[in-house]
Amino acid sequence: MMSDFSTYQVSLPTRLRFGPGSLGDLAAEAAPFGTRAFVMLDPFLKGSSLEARVLRDLEGAGIGARLWHDIVPNPRAATCDRAAAEAIAQGATTIIAIGGGSTMDAAKAVSLAVTNGGPCWDFTTRRDAVVRVPERRGLPLIAVPTNAGTGAEITPFAVLSNPDLHLKATIIHPFCFPDVALIDPDLHLTKLPRLTASTGIDTFLHAFEGYVGTRPNTWTDLFSIRAMELVAQYLPRACAEPGDREARIRMAEACYMAGITLGNIGVGIPHALGQALGALKDTPHGESCAACLIPTIRWTLPEAGDRLARVATILDPGLAGLPVDRAAAALPDRLTAFFARIGLTGGFGALGLREDEIDLLVDIAERNYGQDIACSRRKANTAGLRAIVRDSL
Ligand SMILES: [Fe+2]
Repeated sequence: MMSDFSTYQVSLPTRLRFGPGSLGDLAAEAAPFGTRAFVMLDPFLKGSSLEARVLRDLEGAGIGARLWHDIVPNPRAATCDRAAAEAIAQGATTIIAIGGGSTMDAAKAVSLAVTNGGPCWDFTTRRDAVVRVPERRGLPLIAVPTNAGTGAEITPFAVLSNPDLHLKATIIHPFCFPDVALIDPDLHLTKLPRLTASTGIDTFLHAFEGYVGTRPNTWTDLFSIRAMELVAQYLPRACAEPGDREARIRMAEACYMAGITLGNIGVGIPHALGQALGALKDTPHGESCAACLIPTIRWTLPEAGDRLARVATILDPGLAGLPVDRAAAALPDRLTAFFARIGLTGGFGALGLREDEIDLLVDIAERNYGQDIACSRRKANTAGLRAIVRDSL
């Protein structure tokens, strides 16, 4: 008999437009928002045929475009402030973000800063800091992801970094939901295996961490389980053959499904520690979070066995029918094998963390990602987190 049911709400204000070739719908999607688009693109798209096509399509629809490429992984809050000033000078009516999670997150911050004023960093959530709450919706935002990873196209979060403070922190607000997520998996076909693995494992983590945490519900379970199934089946294929169109389509679906889980119930310890590592070492997001996944599972095992067992059977259907504790205990080995198939094998040590930096890393995680740490079924104190990090080296 169920005794721990909690109320929940469903929030999905972003309109989703999905499918191969859907980039061709961008101008039609942008037209209702106005005639001046501030287009933020990943730097690698500068001068590309994709950029030329977008400009041509927007121009054909009577929309003037100002391009912005000054975005780095783990986007800087100060850079977003400069972009917002450019957008204001342009008189932008719409923000269009074409790129990975960093570009989409930066665009969300810019969208808010244009209508509310900056600096963007003031909107981020940090322990012992007063969060500035945006009073106005941002400029309309269309998000066009160029890989399957963060799910930023469909979440209310924008992760920013502040290198001066060695911090990454997140803007968490419904105004950060993009107005439109335009997902064209054909844009993912050229991604190299390492990036495909690093971003694709982020999708898996969003689904997984929500599913085994304290806040899942019937609705998010639908998306979590399906997303993990799709990643298990198609991420190795996308890594092995970047041009595998079916694999790219299914991974793009997994990404937005996991993004729905993420946007509604959050993540857990792997993201808290992985984000902290990213702040400290400027490491890739997905790899950083994945690097502590198995130690976190070992540590969490006593409290989340039933759900861990379900995940284990997703990765290895041959485990179905085993007692829950045995199936759950098999999960670390199955994940190790899965990581090897997609070419991700490093821990925190391989990503540059030294033993004498463990306490600092945990302090950054506790100061900035307490809400994620709190989502763990097994409650983690500082000593517990340090043990997980030590096991992750
Ligand atoms: Fe993530």
